[in-house]
Amino acid sequence: GMSRDLVGKKVLVTAGPTIEPIDPVRYLSNRSSGKMGFEIAKAAARRGAEVSLVTGPVSLADPAGIETVRVETAREMLAAVEGCFDEADIAVFAAAVADMRPAAPAAKKLKKGSDADALARIELVENPDILATMARRKSKQVVVGFAAETDDVVENARKKLRAKGADYVVANFVGEGGAFDADDNEVVVVSAEGERSYPRSSKSAVADALLDHILGDR
Ligand code: C5P
Repeated sequence: GMSRDLVGKKVLVTAGPTIEPIDPVRYLSNRSSGKMGFEIAKAAARRGAEVSLVTGPVSLADPAGIETVRVETAREMLAAVEGCFDEADIAVFAAAVADMRPAAPAAKKLKKGSDADALARIELVENPDILATMARRKSKQVVVGFAAETDDVVENARKKLRAKGADYVVANFVGEGGAFDADDNEVVVVSAEGERSYPRSSKSAVADALLDHILGDR
C-alpha cells in the first residue's frame, strides 16, 4: 500500500562509508555500498517525509526528491549531520563510519622507498562517534543506529543500544553471505522494549518494516 504516514515529518539518514585520507592518493575506509541507508531515505520520502541524506562516497545516484549531501570524512559527516539533526523527527545512522583516521595526512603522495617509514607506521586517531554525539543531544528525535556484526549479533546490538544512547539498533549479520553490497538484508531490531527479527528480504522492504516498527511504537 501507499501509506503517507510520514507527511510533515523530517527524517535524517546517514549512509555509505567515510574515507579518511592518508595522503592525496590513499585512504582508510570501511566496506559499505550505501544501499541500506539509501533505501531508508527513499522509503521515508515515499511515505511523505522531508528527507536529508548525508552520504559518504558511494556509486549510487542522488535519489529523486531527497536533499543529498555528499561528504568524505567522518568529521565532514558530523558537521553535515549537526546542520539538520535539531529539525529531524527521526534520525537513522546507517553509515559505516571509519573509527579511526590518520593523525596527520601527508600533503604529498608518500613514496615507496623514501617514505617507507611513514607508510609502515601510519599513526591513527579516533574519529568522533556521530551517532553517540547526536544521541546525547537529542530532544524529540527518534534515534536509530546500525550494528554490522559477524558474531553475537543481538548481544552486541544490545550493548550498542546502551553505549550509544540510541532508541533502536538494527543488527545485521555481515559475515560470509551477509549484507555487504547485497540487495537484501536480514535484521534484528533491538530496543528497550525487546527485539524483533525480520526474515531476509529486500533492503527496500527492510526499510519499510523498520519505519513501521518505529511508528507503531509511537
Ligand atoms: O560502533 P559501531 O561502529 O559498530 O556502531 C555502529 C553504529 O554507530 C552505526 O549506526 C554507525 O552509523 C554509527 N557510528 C557513527 N559514528 C562512528 C561510528 C559509528 O555514527 N564514528
